[in-house]
Order: sequence, then structure tokens, then C-alpha cells
Amino acid sequence: MAMKVLQAFLYLCIFDQSSGQPIQVGTYVTQDDLDMASQAAAKAEQACAIASSMTIEDRATARAQLEDASANNILLEIMQAARNQNELQTLAAEKLPGAMIGAAAPLIMFFIILIIYALICCWTACPFCKCCRCCQRQRNIPFLVKLIALVLIGSFVLALVIVSSLSTRGYASAQEGFDVTNCAAATLVNSTFTGQSDPYFLGLIPVLSIFDELEGSLSSGSSFINDLRAILLDTSVITDSVAVATENVNLLASMLSDTRNTAPAGTLHECLACTPLATSLSQVSNALSSGTAAALSAARVEVDNQLSGSSLTTLRASLTGATAPLVELKTTIKSAFAPFVSDTLMEQISEQLNANGTIASVFMIGLALILSLCAMIAVLLWMCWEKSSSPDYADRKQYHKTVHRCACCTWCCSCYYTMLAFFLGGLLTILAVPLASMCLIMEDISSGLLTDISGVMEVDMSGEQGAMMGKMIDQCLKNASGNPRLLDLITVDDVNGNPTTMYDLLVVQTQDQITSQFDQIGATVNSGGGAGIAGSAEFVTLKSMLQTVALDSLMVPSTSYAWESDPDYQGIFLNSEIAPFIASSARCTSETIPMNLGLPKEGEPVSGINAFLSTMTSSYTLSSTSRSPTCAADFTCKALGVGANDLNATDRAACEAARKLMDLKYDMRSRNFKCYHFMRDGVVPCDVSSMSQLGNGAWTGDCKNADGTFTVASYDCDLAAFVQLVQDYGGYLDLVFTRLDGSTTAALNKIQVDLKALPDSNFLSKITTIGNGVTCGFMGDAYQNVVEGLCYGGVWGIKAVASSYTACAVLTLLLIILMYIQWRLALDNVNSNVKILDHTAVVPA
Ligand SMILES: *[C@@H]1O[C@H](CO)[C@@H](O)[C@H](O)[C@H]1NC(C)=O
Ligand SMILES: *[C@@H]1O[C@H](CO)[C@@H](O)[C@H](O)[C@H]1NC(C)=O
Ligand SMILES: *[C@@H]1O[C@H](CO)[C@@H](O)[C@H](O)[C@H]1NC(C)=O
Repeated sequence: MAMKVLQAFLYLCIFDQSSGQPIQVGTYVTQDDLDMASQAAAKAEQACAIASSMTIEDRATARAQLEDASANNILLEIMQAARNQNELQTLAAEKLPGAMIGAAAPLIMFFIILIIYALICCWTACPFCKCCRCCQRQRNIPFLVKLIALVLIGSFVLALVIVSSLSTRGYASAQEGFDVTNCAAATLVNSTFTGQSDPYFLGLIPVLSIFDELEGSLSSGSSFINDLRAILLDTSVITDSVAVATENVNLLASMLSDTRNTAPAGTLHECLACTPLATSLSQVSNALSSGTAAALSAARVEVDNQLSGSSLTTLRASLTGATAPLVELKTTIKSAFAPFVSDTLMEQISEQLNANGTIASVFMIGLALILSLCAMIAVLLWMCWEKSSSPDYADRKQYHKTVHRCACCTWCCSCYYTMLAFFLGGLLTILAVPLASMCLIMEDISSGLLTDISGVMEVDMSGEQGAMMGKMIDQCLKNASGNPRLLDLITVDDVNGNPTTMYDLLVVQTQDQITSQFDQIGATVNSGGGAGIAGSAEFVTLKSMLQTVALDSLMVPSTSYAWESDPDYQGIFLNSEIAPFIASSARCTSETIPMNLGLPKEGEPVSGINAFLSTMTSSYTLSSTSRSPTCAADFTCKALGVGANDLNATDRAACEAARKLMDLKYDMRSRNFKCYHFMRDGVVPCDVSSMSQLGNGAWTGDCKNADGTFTVASYDCDLAAFVQLVQDYGGYLDLVFTRLDGSTTAALNKIQVDLKALPDSNFLSKITTIGNGVTCGFMGDAYQNVVEGLCYGGVWGIKAVASSYTACAVLTLLLIILMYIQWRLALDNVNSNVKILDHTAVVPA
């Protein structure tokens, strides 16, 4: 039961007071709920107007009295000792009789008196049982003794008055306790429904109302979803721009790292610029992926992912799932509290208790007072009117029968009264034992105590559930200073299987997931990422590398190849003039490599094919045949000079080697490189050279497929086309980066401010409100008041009434003894007086 209540409160949350709007009827909150809440509020006000808290003057004494009433908490002792229900019964049978002897004493007295009365007293009063009256004789009781008897009766009346005040206090205390409990329960219902401010708790209905709002927010076509869609659509260009830029960078990187381009097989040439270009390109790529634009796009995509399509459906489903137990709880609470809220049963009971309690208390005390009045009359008669002069015998006194009759009547009635008082007092005393025990357990409840009695209560305190329940009892019910969030007290496993609090999982992590993306934007903007990528140092370097250096001017015979030991090419070293051309490029013209770009051979001239050929003509007479594509002509060598003698062997070898090197260059220039381009929708070759923005802000010519993806394809191209394409990429990248920077500026505010605010206000803030509002401190106060009302009011009152009745019974018992003695004395005197009279009457006859 306790577990169920605690579980139920897990789902309770808080009211968003910042909104301050009246709660609307929705899916989860019905008009019926609102009616019930206002009834509960009215009820609380009404109940608490009577009594809202107990004033316990001496708590320690009251507590000691409760412990006393519980027979020193014997039930708890037994419950702690027992490990299960069976043991509980055995132990109870063993220990209870001994411990209860004190509590049962009044009831035992009742039976003893009943037996004594039935066996002896009633017979002694019977005129036919005179034999039962021992030691009969006439006695002359001194007046002083009679006076003492009167004083005793007087103190009896005084004691009754004192005892009666105890009984009245008991009834009043029970009544107050009942009213306080009534108020506490009503306040609990009121707070459960509508929340309270100190300690802060939102209430069931406000929570459900937030769920209503959330569901409304998340339904398709809601203003939140519409606004979100509008902003996402409005800013979609940033995601496109990031994609176009990234795709172009990736395409160039792939093309420059393709080994068919960097080291074409069989040409013995290599691309010296390719590695530095790739390095520069990856720097640009990093700048791109860590830049503001990428952060903006990522945030946008994250929001889109979390709040659209299947995620939104899942979110909605889990919302419905999460509220199902909440709705069930609401129904349970409503059906449980409905009678309480709508009926006036409690008021009736309270009134009855008020009226009847007084009557009951007045009745018992009144009876005792009547009896004492009788006793008083009996004693007064005994004192002043026991005997008078006999009309027949002037010298003799006659004893009045009225005296002993009056005494007899008093002690007989008192016997019934004392039995009734012992019986009622005994019943109440015994009833107080379990009640006081429960009270002490309720007051002392803690995780430790619950663990002690878990066997008997049949709750499992050893597992995680038990630990959580213990934490809840300690923190929610017993910690007056704290108002913990319930979600903090629930431990669950996160996706990685690590234990984490529900609050962390629901509030912190959900929040982090979305806001971290936006935080990333702020961080990149602050770290200078907002300056734009088109003007960044990385891209400026890359662009001049691409645009100012023709790639083939750094396509040179492989520097790691052992040319000197290759018989085909070693001859070139025989001619010192043409030997340096072993490092000549595959480009027709010679180029000087620009400085400060991180390229090899920077500042150095790299000779081209034309220079190679013209240097050859300084050593030989060449008869060249031009080849297409251009410049790497085929040739034959003759000696210089008129007549053109045949070449000697050295020169011939040098020329042959040079010719073979030229063949390699020709191979480079005529073979197929792999050029890359986009293939729009798989069929249209495309580059971004003609990309442009339309009047409505959308872009065309960015080579995107209809479905938003990009298709990259490669095609065969010769060196010149390859080189040109790489050079063109300087411009292409400039275009896409400029577009990207423009989109970033346009989208920055929309995403960082407008888009961030949407889930914040419609979603995250509500979840946070719920998380922070699911507190349980309010239960502690209500619990405390219930305990005080029930225990220090109700049970203490019952015990007080019981003690008062028992005291009345004991006093009456004394009265009976006194009256019995007086009766016997008076009766014996009357009887002996009759004998003497009879005797004297007989003798003269
Ligand atoms: C009932 O709850 C409402 C809302 O929290 C509060 O304003 C009102 O004071 C409560 N009534 C009582 C008697 O506590
Ligand atoms: C009671 O609550 C306060 C505040 O939340 C907390 O600091 C303290 O540790 C709690 N006490 C116990 C005994 O748990
Ligand atoms: C070959 O001819 C060149 C001039 O054409 C000359 O300089 C060289 O010494 C000759 N070499 C030999 C080994 O004769």
C-alpha cells in the first residue's frame, strides 16, 4: 500500500506558475477534475477553519504516555523480531500475553468483580443469606469514625471531579485530533490536486495540464510545429550551403588523392604539389566542419531530427505512454477522494463525536457523581439519623432501616457502575495498544525501521526498489528542511547501463541534446568562427595554390627513382647540359614556384618541356616530329654543325636517354587522368560554375540531385584538362564558400535566437518545469499533521478516556468497600436491635 502511494506520487509534478494562466480543459484535464479540485479547496478551507494544527504542550510527556499506552511498543518489538507473517503469529502468541497484562488489568478487574459480585456480594445483601454475613453484632461506632467516612466520601467526590477533567480532556483531544487529521487530509487532497507554494509542489492537475500543452505542442499542425517548420524551411539554405561546400571540398580531395592522378602508372612521374594541396584542403575542410555554418546546420538538423517525422511520433507516443499511469493515478485518486471531497460524512462524524463524546463523558462522570451523592446521603444519615428513641421503650433507641438500605442501594449500584467503567476502560486501554503502536511506528518511520519490519510488512527492502523507497521515506516524509525532487530519488539505468537519476535522464540529458548544439554555435561564433570561411587564412592559401600554380609544373620525374642506374635513362647524365632536365616538369612552359604556399621547390624555376627541347638543340641538331597533344615532340639527334656528322657513342647514348625521357612526358600529356565532376540526378555532368541565387533566396546550379544528395563521378581527361579543372576549383570553392558565408549571416539570428527559443519555450521549459516541480516535501508536512492529529490527538485522547474510566472504576471500588462496611454496620445494628426488642418483648409474656 505504502509502495503504491509512493509510486503514485512519482508521477506527480508541479504547476507552471510563471504562465499564470488558468488551467484549460484538455485531453488529460477534464472539467470534472477542475470541479473536484475546487471542491477540494473549499473542503480544505472549511476543514482547516476548525483546527489546522495541534498544540502539544509537552511533547516528551505525551510521547511517553503513548509509549506507555502501546505497552512499551510491544508490537514493533515483535514485528522487528519476526522475519515473516508466520513468525509474527508465533511471536505474538508468545510475547503478547505477558506484555499486555498491564493493559488488560482493568478488564481482568471487571471479571473479578463480576465473579465476586455474583458469588458473594449479591447473596450477602439477600435477606435469606444472613449466614453469609459473618461477625454479626451490635456496634457503637464513634461519631469521629463516621466523620472520617464523610471526609473519605468528600475526597472521593473531589477525585471524581479531577478524573472527570481527564476524561473531558481526552474527548477534547480526540476531537481536536480528528479535526486536525481532517484538515491535514483535506489539505493533502487540495495540494495533490492543485499544488502548494511552501514547500513548493505543483499538483496533479497542473501537471496533467502541462502534458496537455505538450501534447498540443507536439501535434501536427500546432503552432509550435508550424513555427518550427517555417524556421527550418527558412533556414534550410544553410544546410544546403554546408552540403554544397562540403561536397565540393570532398570532390577535390578525392580527385587529388586518386593515385591515377598523383602517380600515373608507368610514367615514372609524380605530383609534387598534390600532398601539400591535400594538406591545405584538409585544413579548409576542418575549418568548414568546425565553423559557424556547420554548427548552425547541425543545430537545425538536430532540432529537425528530434522534432519531426518518426522522432516526433515516438516522442508523442512516449508522452502518451508516460501520461497513461498519470491518468490512471488521477482516476484512482479521484475515486479514492471523491467521497471525502463531496460527502459531508466527515463533518457528520465530527459533529457526532462532538455531541456524543460530551454526553458519554458527562454520562459516566454524572453517574459517578450521583453515586457519590447517594453515598454522601447514606453517610450523613448514618451520622445523624442512625437511631431514634423507640416509642415503646423510652430507654432504648431504635435503629433506622433507612440508613442501611441507603448504603446497600449505593454499594449495589456502584458495583454495576464499577463493572461498566472497568469494562469500558479496559476495552479502550486494550484498543489503545495497537493504535498507539501504529502511531509510534508512523512517527518513527524511516528506511531503517522499514527494513527492520520489512519481513512482516512483506515489502522487499533489499533491492533497488527498496533502496528507492527508503530514500523516499527519509527524504519526503522525514526531512522537514528538504523538498527533494522526486525524479532525483528515482535511479534508472541510462542507455549505457550506468545508473543515473530520472531527473538527469529526462531533464538534463534531453536538454543537453538540443541545447548543446546551440551552445556550439555560440562557442564557434565567439572563437572567431563567425568571420566566414571565404576569407579565412586556410582558404586564401588553398585558393592561391590552386589558382597560381599549374599542377603539371610540379609533375616531375619521380625524385625517389634511381635514374642513374636505369640503362634507359642513365645516358642523360652523360650530357651535363641536358642532365638537369631529369627534374623537368610535364608542363610545356617553365614556371617559377611561388613562395609562402608551403609548396616544394618554392621560389625555384621548374623547367618545362619547351626548355628541355631547346636545350637539346644547343647540343644537337634535332629533327623533331610534333605530337598531339602539344609540345612533347619526338626527335632524332645529329651532331651540330655543317655536314652533321654522325654522333659519337656518348652523345648518342645521351640523346637516346633524353628521347626516352621525352616519351615519358608525352605519355604524361597524352594519357588519361581522372577528372571528377558531379552527375546531377545521375545523368547531367555538372560543376558549380554557374551556381546562382534566385530572387526567392533559393539557389540553382549547385549540382544537387532532386532528392538533395550529390552524385560524384569521374571521367577520363588529359593532363591539360585535369590541370585546368584543378585550377578552376579555386574559383568553384570561392563560389561555394561565399554562398556559405552569405547563408550563415542570413541564418545566424534565425537559428541562434528564433529556432533555439521555440523548443525552449514549448518543450524544454515544460519538461524542466515538471522535473523541478515533482517534489515531495509537501507530503512530509501533511504526514506530520496526520500523525499528530491521529496520535497525539486521537489515540492520546482514547487513552486518556480509558485511564479516566479506569480511575473512576477504582474510585468507585473504594466507595463500594466503604459503603459495604457502613451497610454491614448499620444493618447489624438494626438486626441486633430487632433481636433485643424481640427478646424484651417475649420475656414479659
Ligand atoms: C488549496 O490549494 C490552493 C492552490 O494551491 C491554495 O491556494 C489554497 O490556499 C489551498 N487551500 C487550503 C485551505 O490550503
Ligand atoms: C534534508 O534535506 C536537505 C536539503 O535538501 C539535505 O541537505 C539534507 O542532507 C537532508 N537530510 C537528510 C538526513 O537526508
Ligand atoms: C664526342 O663528340 C663531342 C662533340 O660532338 C665531343 O665533345 C666529345 O669529346 C666526343 N667524345 C668522344 C669520346 O669522342
